Amino acid sequence: MKIGILTGGGDCPGLNAVIRAFSKYAFKKGHEVIGYKDGFKGLIENDFIRLSDKEVSGIITRGGTILGTSNIANPFSYKIPPFGTPEKPAQLGDFAVKNLKRENVDCLVTIGGDGTQNMAYKFHQMGVPIIGVPKTIDNDLSATDYTFGYDTALQVATEAVDRVHTTAESHERVLIVETMGRYAGWIALRSAIAGGGDIVLIPEIEYEPKDIINYIKERRKKGKTFSIIVAAEGAKEKGGTLTAYKKVAGSTDPLRLGGVSNKIADLIEKNTCMEARVVILGHLQRGGTPTHFDRWLSTGFGAKAMDLIEEKKYGYMAALKGQDFIAVKLKDAIGKLKRVDKKSFEVSAALNIGMSFGNEDLK
Ligand code: F6P
Repeated sequence: MKIGILTGGGDCPGLNAVIRAFSKYAFKKGHEVIGYKDGFKGLIENDFIRLSDKEVSGIITRGGTILGTSNIANPFSYKIPPFGTPEKPAQLGDFAVKNLKRENVDCLVTIGGDGTQNMAYKFHQMGVPIIGVPKTIDNDLSATDYTFGYDTALQVATEAVDRVHTTAESHERVLIVETMGRYAGWIALRSAIAGGGDIVLIPEIEYEPKDIINYIKERRKKGKTFSIIVAAEGAKEKGGTLTAYKKVAGSTDPLRLGGVSNKIADLIEKNTCMEARVVILGHLQRGGTPTHFDRWLSTGFGAKAMDLIEEKKYGYMAALKGQDFIAVKLKDAIGKLKRVDKKSFEVSAALNIGMSFGNEDLK
């Protein structure tokens, strides 16, 4: 068989580990693998590289993606010239399918988050034999317990929470670490728990400014002269709006989230006698070498994707349930975000050890 593979959406640690595992298994079975460059852009421009053992060797430790990626290349609303523009997006689904046929590609593997798998499902409906592999540091896909990239992001965020403790303590400050995660609070919540944070602010639980202030004041009364806050980029005040650097026309992500921690720092400085400082982790969380867990997960996903092709089980996505690598229908995998449940054990455990979500109603 001739198999096409691409990485779509934001990069994250573990993409290369999937490409490596998938390709090595495919070569063993005697298949040919071509890697489309820059996500679906490569499929539209028919721009690809032939993968051999040389390209995929020694890349398990490498962050990013050797194929490149794009979070604006959507064949079903294509805004990249010369094919389309942001003002006049082109419908290039059929064109992409023709490109696959012209190159005699027998099936396509799409490694990406919800946006990429949505596009994969559309191609599946058009008759393209397709397999999805889930990635995102946000861990917000409901069909899989974990996506690769998340564990590495958590590691970075937890280390940041650990490290800001010393300055917070020495200077009696409030230190706010802002994590990514888009509309899900997983990175913030788990890094706050693991790093011993005091307050965690997540999109799923809107905060009350007065509850943050009272909590910090109460801590001071108890002799705790510093506080650590972990704020997800998607956190917002009760009844408030999301904080974004800018709106991005034409992107699958219309809002570039970030900066909520500055609002919280202002709030604290205005209402307490404490200095507040901010550390926005941004793309640090997506960079560098994947953790052991993400390498393991990526390798399993790559191998599972190849198994599915051998079984001709198209229209499915590899997923992890417990310790098992399973297949879920793309149809069931897309559009359902996995978010933190405020009634979960994890949230009540955090409350029971004295952490705050900046919302006293939770107690
Ligand atoms: O989905 C992964 C993610 O890193 C989010 O956590 C974040 O909101 C977004 O992508 C940032 O995307 P970009 O790198 O395109 O600004």
